[in-house]
Amino acid sequence: MALPNTQARLTDIDKYRAQVLSHPLAQGISPDEVRDHLAQVPQQRFPRVAYADRGPDPCIQPRGGFPLFEAQHRLTHQLSEAGADFIPLTIDSYTRQNQYDTATQLLHRSEEEGKDYLNGYPLISHGYELTRQLYCDLEKPVSLRHGTPDARLLAEVAIASGIAEIEGGAICYCLPYSEGFPIDRCLLYWQYVDRICAINSTEGAPIHRESFGPLTATLVPPAIVVAVEIIEALLSAEQGVTSFAVSFGQTGSMIQDIATATVLRELTRYYLDKFGFASVQSYLVYHQWMGQFPAQRERAAALIACSAVIASMISADKVVVKTVDEALGVPRPEINAEACDTVGYVLRTYRSAATVTSPMIERETALIRSEAGSILDAIFSISGSAFWESVFRAFQMGFLDIPFSPHADNANKLLSVRDANGSIRISDAANVPISNHDAELEKDLLESREDRADKTYRQMLTDIRLMV
Ligand code: 5AD
Repeated sequence: MALPNTQARLTDIDKYRAQVLSHPLAQGISPDEVRDHLAQVPQQRFPRVAYADRGPDPCIQPRGGFPLFEAQHRLTHQLSEAGADFIPLTIDSYTRQNQYDTATQLLHRSEEEGKDYLNGYPLISHGYELTRQLYCDLEKPVSLRHGTPDARLLAEVAIASGIAEIEGGAICYCLPYSEGFPIDRCLLYWQYVDRICAINSTEGAPIHRESFGPLTATLVPPAIVVAVEIIEALLSAEQGVTSFAVSFGQTGSMIQDIATATVLRELTRYYLDKFGFASVQSYLVYHQWMGQFPAQRERAAALIACSAVIASMISADKVVVKTVDEALGVPRPEINAEACDTVGYVLRTYRSAATVTSPMIERETALIRSEAGSILDAIFSISGSAFWESVFRAFQMGFLDIPFSPHADNANKLLSVRDANGSIRISDAANVPISNHDAELEKDLLESREDRADKTYRQMLTDIRLMV
């Protein structure tokens, strides 16, 4: 048994770095020069400072990436002026899949034809020197948003560009995004990313990491999200990361959102402290609805506004916003800017004075806390020479089972469905080690649903398409 611990740092990082940086597209990156550059980057470009300076409302984080430099530069400033507190750099799908040659070819074609042939910014093709120019007059943190199982080179180029927040993790950027990328390799590659984040950090200006809690955003029980988020916080902390955000996606039930936020915040702190990582600062990020969006703009706007209220109710440190064009494709900059403005407006006008609670919320909180604790304790007791090995084995054993993951090594045995108030219930835990008592409670709560007799595919589709 190998519990998370402070001695688990990747050794030989310099050797691995030399290999990664020998890639032709990493040409010019010098670890010493990067550290010098980061020392000159304004403090406000680091999430720790942005979070410390934030007022009563959650920080606002849009997403956004275009292939051409000029378009990305314009977007950056449009979003900032519209009230974004964190500026996104969303990466195109080819770069995410390490297909850098294709990304470069399509970048050139986009430049030649003035038309976008990529769905994001091909950071590695553009390189760090040009990308630094995107941010030379920016005093807000930039967040790297991607979905890359092997993000080693991407993270190197991002940090060299002065980007101080790296989203992702070995579980959250593998299981929802890949069918066949080996989970154990992903765990090791993300150790690399975490380690270089730590190496490039200083005490006052750490490179911040954020996990992606929505996972598949499709009926994922909160206890699974909480367990995954805490595992990723611990894996990052093992590599020396000192600033970390756990996150989750709007569940579709206000009760469950409030309960999930409480448990996630509480247990993240508890386990970081328990394993010797008391100095790691943790934050909570809330994602506006990540499932299928209504195509009707008025409905999309209503959903975005209501979920901004929930972000305020749970006192999220940051809210990741959607746009009214979510159902239609990559949003135009004006639409994206409008989303930041709307969310800012709602946060200001519906500022939550105190944590909302009720007997139902308390019951839900206790249930998620108990289930997440059972899952984590079971994973901590799996034998292995390092914590990451226990995590790897947890997938083989089905202790972690992420609904609707396309990954070949996900168990896909856990079944979930919504109850009468829209909360996500575990109808069959399969090998996920929750207690019999909690499994019974899940079933009891499900009985409240009137159409329970209809245990069909149709019911599942209704649950998935909740907001449409
Ligand atoms: N620009 C803006 N938003 C994007 N998303 C993905 N790529 C881009 C982009 N280039 C957003 C979409 C998607 C979410 C995961 O990220 O809203 O649903």
